[in-house]
Amino acid sequence: MSPPGAAMMTGVVAEVVNQWAVITIVLSGFALVTGVFFIRRGNREAHMRAMLVASALATVFLVLYLTRLGLGYEKKYIGPYRVGYFSLLISHVILAAANLPLALLALWNAWKGLQAAGNLGNIDAPAARPFFQRHRMWVRWTVPVWLYVAVTGWIIYLILDRYGKVMNG
Ligand code: HEM
Repeated sequence: MSPPGAAMMTGVVAEVVNQWAVITIVLSGFALVTGVFFIRRGNREAHMRAMLVASALATVFLVLYLTRLGLGYEKKYIGPYRVGYFSLLISHVILAAANLPLALLALWNAWKGLQAAGNLGNIDAPAARPFFQRHRMWVRWTVPVWLYVAVTGWIIYLILDRYGKVMNG
């Protein structure tokens, strides 16, 4: 294939990778809300499963996002609301970076708690309690940050669909 053809192909692949990245992060947001819904109803088993699905989807998102960066795909904002757009983008990027350690802390404490408890019916066992206390403490930050990142990621994608110009790739 000629170099211009190859570049066009990379651009098409990057576009599809970008679409799937936004799909997976939005789905992870839905799984997260489902997990919160389950724990509110006291269903710990379903909560755990929903949160593992949310975490797996967020991991797939991360891989796709890094692939997109590797392909050199970038869309520049050329719309009229620059201050609004860049405020949204900066808050999104900062909180997306914060979300990874927050999610890992939530998962780590849940995992250690589950190991100490033996099963999810025994989370008040003395060895397990501190882990689930820390889990509850961290998720107060994890859940809103994760949701903000998922929703703004979607919004940014839609904005760039309307006001974006592909720079390279
Ligand atoms: C990153 C993924 C996760 C997030 C964002 C998350 C979020 C939450 C939230 C919002 C609560 C309610 C906190 C409260 O009421 O103050 C909670 C409680 C809980 N979570 Fe998670 N969770 C995650 C993963 C897990 C996993 C993998 C497990 C199982 C090993 C688990 C087990 C629990 C338990 C046992 C509780 C306390 C339930 C109770 O008090 O009856 N969570 N979690």
